[in-house]
Amino acid sequence: MSSWGVRLGTRASWLVQVVCWTAILSGLFWIGLGWGLDPQDFFHPLRGWRHRLLVLHGVSAYMLLWVIGSLFTLHQMGNWRARRNRASGLALTGALLLLALSGLTLYYPPHEDWRDAFSLFHQVLGASTALLVLVHIRAGKISHRMRRLPRRHPARMFIIGSS
Ligand code: HEM
Ligand code: HEM
Repeated sequence: MSSWGVRLGTRASWLVQVVCWTAILSGLFWIGLGWGLDPQDFFHPLRGWRHRLLVLHGVSAYMLLWVIGSLFTLHQMGNWRARRNRASGLALTGALLLLALSGLTLYYPPHEDWRDAFSLFHQVLGASTALLVLVHIRAGKISHRMRRLPRRHPARMFIIGSS
């Protein structure tokens, strides 16, 4: 089985998760560091750390887009056609797409007055994506375990139907 196949190999899964969590945690720490900061205090030492976190965030977000692209043909389309883990996969894909779009609006806001609204949307959705990633992986593991049970097993029939 290829590492980047319909089912991810250990290395591919590890890489996807490291890149995802780097983007998520750098965003969350950036938000966290902002809570204690006075917006008028431009010389606070935490500002430098906040900036470094945003650079890390930008770099990992770029890598994440590349990683998601690598998952598209086999992992996403293959599992979609096989009707595996569709709900959480679709929710995660949609959230990542909206994050990419709202991330772009932070670089190029259609109007300067809207930047704060786009930023808030991006931050709330980004924080929720942490949960979506956990749910997607957990649901994927459960559905994989179920598929190893006999077709007529009650647990399998209940969770994924007879397919
Ligand atoms: C596909 C995934 C993502 C992409 C492409 C993306 C992209 C971006 C971009 C381009 C920026 C602007 C950077 C700058 O102003 O220098 C940004 C800012 C930010 N992102 Fe993301 N991001 C993603 C996921 C996330 C996630 C999962 C979180 C988690 C909370 C998050 C939180 C933030 C925060 C807090 C900011 C700073 C907001 C601001 O400057 O107003 N992002 N992101
Ligand atoms: C429609 C879209 C998607 C579908 C239908 C889908 C489906 C699945 C399924 C069925 C599994 C369980 C695989 C198995 O162990 O047999 C799984 C696991 C996983 N998926 Fe997705 N997925 C989708 C999108 C995504 C996206 C966008 C990401 C990127 C963050 C992703 C990352 C993962 C990871 C890291 C695992 C865990 C692999 C492991 O270590 O067991 N998936 N997905």
